[in-house]
Amino acid sequence: MSRLDHCYNIEDLRLAAMKRLPKGVFEYLDKGTEDQISLRNNRRAFEDLKLRNRVLADVSDVKMNSEIFGKPVSMPFAIAPTGIAGLCWYEGEFELAKAAAKAGVPFTLATGSNTSMEKVAKEAGGRLWFQLYMWREKELSYELVRRAADAGFEALVWTVDIGHGANREHNARNGFSTPYKMNMRSTFDVLRHPEWLVTVLGKYLATTGMPTHENYPAKYKQSITGKHKIEKLVRADKVGWADVDKLREIWPGKLIIKGILHAEDAQQALQHGVDAIVVSNHGGRNMDSADATLDVLPEIVEAVGGKTSVIVDSGIRRGSDIVKCLGLGADLVLAGRPTLYGVGVGGQAGAEKALKILRDEMKRTMAYLGKQRVSELTKEIFKPVR
Ligand SMILES: Cc1cc2nc3c(=O)[nH]c(=O)nc-3n(C[C@H](O)[C@H](O)[C@H](O)COP(=O)(O)O)c2cc1C
Repeated sequence: MSRLDHCYNIEDLRLAAMKRLPKGVFEYLDKGTEDQISLRNNRRAFEDLKLRNRVLADVSDVKMNSEIFGKPVSMPFAIAPTGIAGLCWYEGEFELAKAAAKAGVPFTLATGSNTSMEKVAKEAGGRLWFQLYMWREKELSYELVRRAADAGFEALVWTVDIGHGANREHNARNGFSTPYKMNMRSTFDVLRHPEWLVTVLGKYLATTGMPTHENYPAKYKQSITGKHKIEKLVRADKVGWADVDKLREIWPGKLIIKGILHAEDAQQALQHGVDAIVVSNHGGRNMDSADATLDVLPEIVEAVGGKTSVIVDSGIRRGSDIVKCLGLGADLVLAGRPTLYGVGVGGQAGAEKALKILRDEMKRTMAYLGKQRVSELTKEIFKPVR
C-alpha cells in the first residue's frame, strides 16, 4: 500500500506532507501570516455556513461539469498558483499541471515557479493560466507576459493583493526567506528528511543544479540560495487601474485579477474590462485579519451583477466548501494547499488524489442537496436567514 492509499481526505494528505517535507518547506506551505487570523477566518466561515439536506430526489445522475470562459471544465475548479510546488516535489509545478490536465481542470503556473513556463506549456497539456507579479521594473513583467502569450497560455492572472509583502515570521525563523539562507536549523531540518533530500534537492543537484526561479528575467535568475538580495526585482508598490489597461493592451488572452476583497474594487475591475476576478485573501497568507472570502463573496457577486466571472479561493478543503462557494454565486473556485499537500506526498499521483477527493466529496454533497447539476446550486441550498 502506498502512502496515498492511507489518505482519505485533504487533512490526511496534509499530515502525510508534514512528515515527508522539511519543516521549513512545510510551514512555508501550510501557514498563514502573523497571528494566523485570516487563516482561521477562512475555515470558520466555511464551518459556520450550513447546508439544507433534501430527500427523495432523483440523484442518480449527478454531474459536476461546468464552463469557464466558454470552455468546459470537468468541475468548477482550477489549481491556484503557488510558488513552492517545485520544492515539494521535483518539478512539482509540472506534476500539478499534468494532474490538472488529466482531471480536466485548469492549472495556474506561478511567476516564482521552479519549472519554466515553456516546459509546462509544451509538455503538460490541458488548460493553462499564468500568474503574474508586477515588478517595480514593469518592463520586465511585460516581458514575462509576452513570453506567456508566445507559450500559448489561455489566461493571465495578475495578483494584486501583495501591498508591501507578507510578514511570515515562521519563514524568517526557518531561514526560508528569499534568497533562502541555510543555517544550522535549516541544515539540520533538511538532514532529518533524507527522502526529500535525495528525491527533491538531490535530483535537482544531479540534473539542473540548485533550483532557480525559472521564469525570472535572465539577469536576475539565480538559484534559490543565491547570494544577492534581488534588489531590483522587487514587486511594484506603485500600481493602479491604469496598469490593468496596459496589461489588456499587451495580453491577448483572458485577463483575471486576483486578490479582490472589496465590492468597489470588483466594480473597478469590471470597468477596466477584466474577464474574471478572484475573490481571495491569498489563503490567509498576506494581510492578517482579512475577511474570510466566503463572507465577502455575496456582496461582490452582487456588485458585478453577472458582468464578469467571479472566482473565489482561500480555505477550501472539502467538496462541500466548493458547493458553498457556488451556492453563493461563484462561477469557479481555486485551491492552493490541497493539491500542494498532494504533490508533496506523491507528485502527480498525489495531486490527482487531492482532486479526486474534492470531486467525490462535491458529488456526494450535491446528492445530499438533491441537486444533479452545478447550475442548480443557488442560495436555496442554505438555511434561510431569519
Ligand atoms: C505555498 C503557497 C504559495 C503561494 N504562492 C502564490 C503565488 O506565487 N502567487 C499567487 O498569486 N498566489 C500564491 N499563493 C496563494 C494561492 O494562489 C491561493 O490564493 C491560496 O493558496 C488559496 O488558499 P488555500 O491554500 O487555502 O486554497 C500561494 C499559496 C500557497 C499556499
